[in-house]
Amino acid sequence: MAQLWGGRFTKETDKLVYNFNASIGFDQKFFKQDVEGSKAHVKMLGSVGILTSDEVDTILEGLTGIYQDVIEGKLEITSEYEDIHSFVEANLIERTGDTGKKLHTGRSRNDQVALDMRLYVRDEIDETRDVLIKLLKVLHRLMKEHVDTYMPGFTHLQKAQPVTLAHHIGAYMEMFKRDYKRLGSIRERMNECPLGAGALAGTTYQLDRRMTAELLGFDGPTLNSMDSVSDRDYVIEFLSALSLIMMHLSRFCEEIIMWNSNEYKFIELDDAYSTGSSIMPQKKNPDIAELVRGKTGRVYGALTSLLTTMKGIPLAYNKDMQEDKELTFDAIDTVKGCIALFTGMIDTMTVNKDRMKDSAAHGFTNATDAADYLVKNGVPFRDAHGIIGRLVLYAIDQNKSLDELSLHEYQEICPVFKEDIYEAISMKTCVEKRNTIGAPGPEAMNEVIRINEEFLSNK
Ligand code: ARG
Repeated sequence: MAQLWGGRFTKETDKLVYNFNASIGFDQKFFKQDVEGSKAHVKMLGSVGILTSDEVDTILEGLTGIYQDVIEGKLEITSEYEDIHSFVEANLIERTGDTGKKLHTGRSRNDQVALDMRLYVRDEIDETRDVLIKLLKVLHRLMKEHVDTYMPGFTHLQKAQPVTLAHHIGAYMEMFKRDYKRLGSIRERMNECPLGAGALAGTTYQLDRRMTAELLGFDGPTLNSMDSVSDRDYVIEFLSALSLIMMHLSRFCEEIIMWNSNEYKFIELDDAYSTGSSIMPQKKNPDIAELVRGKTGRVYGALTSLLTTMKGIPLAYNKDMQEDKELTFDAIDTVKGCIALFTGMIDTMTVNKDRMKDSAAHGFTNATDAADYLVKNGVPFRDAHGIIGRLVLYAIDQNKSLDELSLHEYQEICPVFKEDIYEAISMKTCVEKRNTIGAPGPEAMNEVIRINEEFLSNK
């Protein structure tokens, strides 16, 4: 049991207590950030004259050595240490003797862990944004390819109006673009350095907090030391952004699962992204999409869990906050993995254009356009709506689509219909005339694709 404290204790910690309290099993995840933070702290201690430049060099060299040895597998992070901070410090002292004992001057594990977690989350925000960009690029390619792939658009899961696959995918493009931007704004808000806050009340050493902030790429130091050691808002914001990403992925997965089903057959997932059944030889299952959908619950769980943990914690640091780590690490790994797998899955799927078009052609997706035809010919919209309703009822009875009814049948229901009704309700017209920005028509779609192209350039 290697601890950083013990001076005021007369007994050894109970083994169960030690294990319950220890965090080395998970906080080793930010080993890199811990070393990075310590290096900045030591450089600052040197610059304000608390350490000599020889001491600074010795400690920096020691920290670099520890980092290298761990990366190269020569030094193992073991449960013999209470946490990652103790591991680094104990190893430093082993290597540099008394000089290493000066590393923790003007610092507490409270501001140290606040810093490590912040550095870790900031790095992970950047990584999550990178994987999101890969997904956005695949969505962008699919949009460009499917500007004229007609399909039914749904409301209430009932066929509503014809759209295109580019338009449908474009909806997700917008969601994931917002996710990308949301992560960016969280990063901006959290980019303040808590180092120097000490245990809760700063320190009597004349630390240069601006210097450490700058060395670590922060915009500046945090402005309240009690808040600095007890703020986990940014982790909650991050978990909330991750939950939204999962919500978006989950909705898309649900659609992929339906589209890939025997009933829809809109798409076919690649063999590499499907799984078989141990008993039913004909099966090709969309397990990846289902797993992504399923893992959404796990990420929401992390968000709810941390919100609940933080509720009612008095200022300033309390050990409850150690609970922020495992669930955050798990959520991050889950989300990055899900985005990457989802990206591969949609990148390799095949689209059955004919099936999609055929589905749009049946189900009266052009009924609104038929009503609009009457309106353009002088019938008030409410009347037109009623007339088309009757026409649909008649067509269902005849087992025909609107395009298949004869002009005579149209005129029986309303004499306003003329030969040009067929042109007005053709799928091509229904989609291609919808050209206000954001709509599925090709002009509008190409404009959006151009805007997205610009968004993605140099990313
Ligand atoms: N493992 C602790 C955490 O994750 C580090 C801070 C410990 N501070 C303390 N006063 N015991 O929060």
